[in-house]
Amino acid sequence: MNSIKVFCPATIANISCGFDVLGLALDAIGDEMMVRKTKQPGINISKITGQILPLETKKNVAGIAGLALLAESEYSGGFEIEIYKKIKAGSGIGSSAASSAGAVWAMNELLGKPFSPIELVKFAMQGEALASGVAHADNVAPALYGGFTLVRSYEPLDIIKINTPPDLYATVIHPQIEVKTSDSRKILKTSISLKDGIKQWGNVGGLISGLFLEDYDLIGRSLVDHIVEPIRSMLIPGFSEVKSETIKAGALGTGISGSGPSIFALSKGKDTADKVAEAMRNVYINIGVDYDVYVSKINTKGMHKI
Ligand code: HSE
Repeated sequence: MNSIKVFCPATIANISCGFDVLGLALDAIGDEMMVRKTKQPGINISKITGQILPLETKKNVAGIAGLALLAESEYSGGFEIEIYKKIKAGSGIGSSAASSAGAVWAMNELLGKPFSPIELVKFAMQGEALASGVAHADNVAPALYGGFTLVRSYEPLDIIKINTPPDLYATVIHPQIEVKTSDSRKILKTSISLKDGIKQWGNVGGLISGLFLEDYDLIGRSLVDHIVEPIRSMLIPGFSEVKSETIKAGALGTGISGSGPSIFALSKGKDTADKVAEAMRNVYINIGVDYDVYVSKINTKGMHKI
């Protein structure tokens, strides 16, 4: 195989209580990427559509992640990459992760899979470091593994794939304002109180248990963030209205998707997820901000060939 076309899913990082450690992959939105082997060594990003992003390898997250893979590989050739962006940069649904993880996943397939999923996560994290200043794995891990993932540890890196209850749907609204991950990280406090820690790790444990037990009420009770959401939500107009209206519409829980400004809700069943989408839309129609909205099943496959 000398070329491959890949679906690179959008992802929701943090999932309320799991800042930098929890994430999930979406089905309804993702980028596409075409990757070809070349005799010429290195990475050549020959085309990007849908977003204005640098073609220069070392300035592009896919290029940086790809170079990290090549540095560990015995392959003497290179790769050409075409990126078809559907995920907007700065939307909070893992635009940079889709490109970083997509590039390394595709290259690994073309090389006959010499690298394990965790090694691919490490390469893709280099792209995240370029995009946000921090090599976080909570978007690239679900993009590569599919479903829900937990970064149990960063040093050493340990990724756990979490069960996906079959009736779980995500609704995501992207109000058309841009929030850069690097900016929305700068405003966070660097320490937390023991009291907040206790509440937060109770919810992380509850959410993981709820996912494995397929206990939707427990999932809903655990979708609470005492640490990051109170600060970041100030950057998102309409956040508290979206939260209250989506809960009224039947969502299990609602929070900020990644570093925002997208807001996500999880629901049991597609009908409820659709009602939640309607509730989200109404908030932004009322305050006059344009939006994109997606209702999606959880993508349990992650990256895949198309
Ligand atoms: N965990 C990261 C953050 C995700 O919240 O900054 C960025 O998408």
